Amino acid sequence: MSREVTLVSEQEKQVQYEYIEKVKEKVALLEAKLSRKPTFCVVTFGCQMNARDSEKLTGILKTVGYEESDSEYSDFVIYNTCTVRDNANQKVYGRLGALGTIKKKNPSMRIALCGCMMQEQSVIDKLKKSYPFVDLVFGTHNIYKFAQLLFDMFESDRMVIDIWKETDKIVEELPVDRKYHFKSGINILFGCDNFCSYCIVPYVRGRERSREVQDIIKEIKGLVEDGVVEVMLLGQNVNSYGKNLEHPVSFAGLLREIEKIEGLERIRFMTSHPKDLSDELIQTIKESGKICRHLHLPLQSGSNNILKAMNRKYTREQYLELAEKIRREIPDISLTTDIIVGFPGETAEDIDKTIDVIREVQFDNAFTFIYSKRTGTPAAAMENQVPEEEVKTGFDRLLKEVQKAARQRAGKLTGMVMPVLVEEINEHDNSLVTGRLSNNTLVHFKGGTELIGKIVSVSLDESKGFYYFGRMEG
Ligand code: SAH
Ligand code: SF4
Ligand code: F3S
Repeated sequence: MSREVTLVSEQEKQVQYEYIEKVKEKVALLEAKLSRKPTFCVVTFGCQMNARDSEKLTGILKTVGYEESDSEYSDFVIYNTCTVRDNANQKVYGRLGALGTIKKKNPSMRIALCGCMMQEQSVIDKLKKSYPFVDLVFGTHNIYKFAQLLFDMFESDRMVIDIWKETDKIVEELPVDRKYHFKSGINILFGCDNFCSYCIVPYVRGRERSREVQDIIKEIKGLVEDGVVEVMLLGQNVNSYGKNLEHPVSFAGLLREIEKIEGLERIRFMTSHPKDLSDELIQTIKESGKICRHLHLPLQSGSNNILKAMNRKYTREQYLELAEKIRREIPDISLTTDIIVGFPGETAEDIDKTIDVIREVQFDNAFTFIYSKRTGTPAAAMENQVPEEEVKTGFDRLLKEVQKAARQRAGKLTGMVMPVLVEEINEHDNSLVTGRLSNNTLVHFKGGTELIGKIVSVSLDESKGFYYFGRMEG
């Protein structure tokens, strides 16, 4: 199957490059009309996968002649949406309403929507009915067709809608515009086959598809030549990478290949599903000089009843054993997690069990989410939805524990000298720069723009809880 995918993709790629040329002409006409370069603004909601997709959108928009802006008063505004929780959707509707008002004053303005939310029929119905001023709507499976869709939008005076239910295509090598010159996300697999009962991602991102090892390596080598020192391998469940390739490869096997790339300094990845985290992976991280000391390992719940109803396919005992093994083998690793509060049927005792796990594992950080009912998922049809008040009480209790554990773990590196990848000038004090340790903790220290993108040794003088103040050595 994979061979055919590559062939189809090659043809598709050519078609898209032809459309890029055609859209350039349209944008040139617009530029002549406006007597200035038209501007665009990409607004990203959701996860790192969406952030990476937005770099692809930006790449195309710059190639066809638009100029980037961070203002929604632009000639082309696109929202790359998320639908993992309902509040993500509400944010989009709210901002879209405001955008409609802006468009009334700028008749040559065009508005596009894409991303996970667009894969839901109810969203499309609502857009048609209440937001008719939107010019272009497309989903997650046909984002590679963006140039062609832009062309269709210029040709049409009505809302252009193109949503695919599924795809087996992976189209490579279209323009990408990276947000940071020194680090980049890389998709290694698309979609998700896990169907956790609360989660909408498998419905909006489709079936799991792994990219070929050589395509990933080729992309990373190209990035390294272009100045990238850190990559973040992206997938909803990176641990199941490669299982469905014609010649199956394990995620650990892929990591070992990436490790060999000269000039690449750091490797990160997101997200690991506990059920598929192998001993081989733990050993590979342990032996690696490049894989960062950070593992995001979503727990979701510490109660076996809830884990079962969530279809997570592991028990609290298995999770605890895994966390213990990871900490034993790689003592300097930082462990972070996701927890959902208020899943249907969750009781105060279930929350107590989650709190027990938090106390035992001592996560370096945990993201706690209030359960959000997603239409079409099995959990949405469950009868025992938890009343809001109870959820709030549980959420507050959990948050306290999470913060307590994080405080206990914080500061453990004080006094040590460690490598930091400098990412930017400090937001609040421009005599400082901000960077990250291998374990993902932020460090602030005196320095200037010339350090951005470099890995330097920093003495971690003072812990401030979630970050350190340091001093550059040498
Ligand atoms: N693929 C990743 C997670 C992707 S979504 C994984 O399996 O770990 C990121 C996080 O959002 C999840 O870990 C979960 O904690 C949360 N989440 C997903 N669906 C949710 C829902 N319906 N309500 C609340 N939180 C949810
Ligand atoms: Fe959602 Fe579960 Fe897939 Fe993560 S693994 S994206 S939580 S279905
Ligand atoms: Fe959201 Fe889609 Fe990511 S639903 S979390 S943007 S995969």
